[in-house]
Amino acid sequence: MRPIRDVHSYANPGETRVAHAALDLEVLFRERILRGSVDLSLDRVDPSAAAVVLDTRGLDVHGAETSAGGSGWTAARFELGTADAILGAGLTVPLRRGDDRVRIAYQTRPGASGLQWLEPAQTAGRRHPFLFSQSQAIHARSWIPIQDTPQVRLTYEARVRTPPELTAVMSAGGNPEGRRGGEYRFAMPQRIPAYLLAIAAGDIGFASMSRRTGVYAEPSVVEASAREFEDTERMMEAAERLYGPYRWERYDILVLPPSFPFGGMENPRLTFATPTVLAGDKSLVSLIAHELAHSWSGNLVTNATWRDFWLNEGFTTYIERRIVEEVYGADAASMEAVLGRQDLEEEIGRLDDPDEILHIDLTGRDPDDGATRLPYEKGSLFLRSLEELFGRERFDAYLRGYFDRFAFRSILTEDFLDDLRTHLLASDEGRARRVPLDAWIEAPGLPEEAPRPSSPALDAVARIAEDWSAGRAAPDSIPFGKWSTQQRIQFLRRLPTTLPPARMAELDAAFGLTGSRNNEVAFQWLLMSLRSGYAPALPRLEEFLVSIGRRKYIKPLYEELVRTPEGLARARAVYARARPGYHPIAVDTVDRIVGQPA
Ligand code: BES
Ligand code: ZN
Repeated sequence: MRPIRDVHSYANPGETRVAHAALDLEVLFRERILRGSVDLSLDRVDPSAAAVVLDTRGLDVHGAETSAGGSGWTAARFELGTADAILGAGLTVPLRRGDDRVRIAYQTRPGASGLQWLEPAQTAGRRHPFLFSQSQAIHARSWIPIQDTPQVRLTYEARVRTPPELTAVMSAGGNPEGRRGGEYRFAMPQRIPAYLLAIAAGDIGFASMSRRTGVYAEPSVVEASAREFEDTERMMEAAERLYGPYRWERYDILVLPPSFPFGGMENPRLTFATPTVLAGDKSLVSLIAHELAHSWSGNLVTNATWRDFWLNEGFTTYIERRIVEEVYGADAASMEAVLGRQDLEEEIGRLDDPDEILHIDLTGRDPDDGATRLPYEKGSLFLRSLEELFGRERFDAYLRGYFDRFAFRSILTEDFLDDLRTHLLASDEGRARRVPLDAWIEAPGLPEEAPRPSSPALDAVARIAEDWSAGRAAPDSIPFGKWSTQQRIQFLRRLPTTLPPARMAELDAAFGLTGSRNNEVAFQWLLMSLRSGYAPALPRLEEFLVSIGRRKYIKPLYEELVRTPEGLARARAVYARARPGYHPIAVDTVDRIVGQPA
């Protein structure tokens, strides 16, 4: 494995590379601390290199020991470098000749950026505390001293202790299904990058959905979750038909409390998901298709650096829609693709040119800054353009081969491009000449020939939105109640940016928008209500912001709020109530918008 320069890590994998981690951790809820040790097995790539360098962020390191072959442990004089606000601090442990193990005793701090500790009041059951991790992009280092660069892949095992009435789960084999008792053991025998290390603990129940799929969640939401996600097995079968065997044995989903800052996170064998997708009608389960797709694009073939993030998310967004097409039909997939291109155009309107480049330079920046809609939707359109040009059959065969060739490896954008040239473009030079590779990968904006997904079902809705806006359609002539969630979103998006409050009231009365329990619809409506100064939606807005911590929703709502002086005052007041319940990542985002509370 050649070492790759990763501007987001201190590690030295070209010299000494972590191959396996054995964690031993105790979950201390009262102190909000994980305490224990990690025992790392090392590959001495360059035997003359006399140290291993790990990443840490805000860890309290108690001691380091090294050993050759796991016996004769000797204390080592470790050195913790100065801390950088984004990267944290490098931890250098000197090695003697032959040392191939290092054990670090450590504990986390209550403010660890990769962990959220919830009070009982912040959970659905309100009786027990809850903990969950979120390691992507570079937060694993805030709860494990590790080589936190995705070019390094490791296997892991863990022993985790919790209070006896609680359950711990991890992104590994050995999840407890219904078992309790306070001591849990996990093993991940496939090599994964550090950003896929994950843990959660709390009052967690389990429901099986099929031989190899199940749901973990707080007991009061387990059944609803299992119903919402009952098509997971069919999604897996569809993905396997397209891209080859699922290589991780089980696929379970952990439904988290609503402060989870993302929609989903593809932790291997155990996707973490927001409860905001529990719409009751499966209308938001493309999120599961997405996280499942990462079992190929991301977890099997991984971006080697965060500059190559689009390889993870662009491929995954493309595959997500192929899975949706297989399970829910071409019309459903087209609707998602059309809404995706809308998101992309909006994002391109907001971003500066350098941030519109798939192969983005993130030097000196937080890699989370690169997680805009751009790598997802532009990356997906790029793959779709190849599919359209070469035909589905050839492109599907290419992608399947790509996953086999790079399975369990971390790759650069250049590796993909070489592979694409060799295995797809070379077979048809005429078509290959029509692929503007440079415009897709290295230039801002979108190439002129970028695909324009279309959906007759959404076009019809757009016309109705226009008719109503122009005063040509009465609300009771609009079949809003019969529309899918995606059509409802399209309807709201196709209304004028602002409407007079009376017109907003007309829609609200007809379609009950302020009361919508579908979070995507509610979000779209609340955003529009803010733009239009529609006051009757404000109590719902506040409830939404206080009860949900998903960044995709709260960020645009706060941004819209702070545009006016009254809005800013309202933002401050509601944020003061909401902030204690938000995840550190969400707090960081909203602090920048609203300002830190006094
Ligand atoms: N891997 C991402 C989440 C992520 C990206 C976390 C970058 C931290 C840094 C996950 O697969 C994802 O893309 N989630 C989306 C949902 C998806 C349906 C687009 C999200 O959370 O919004
Ligand atoms: Zn993703």
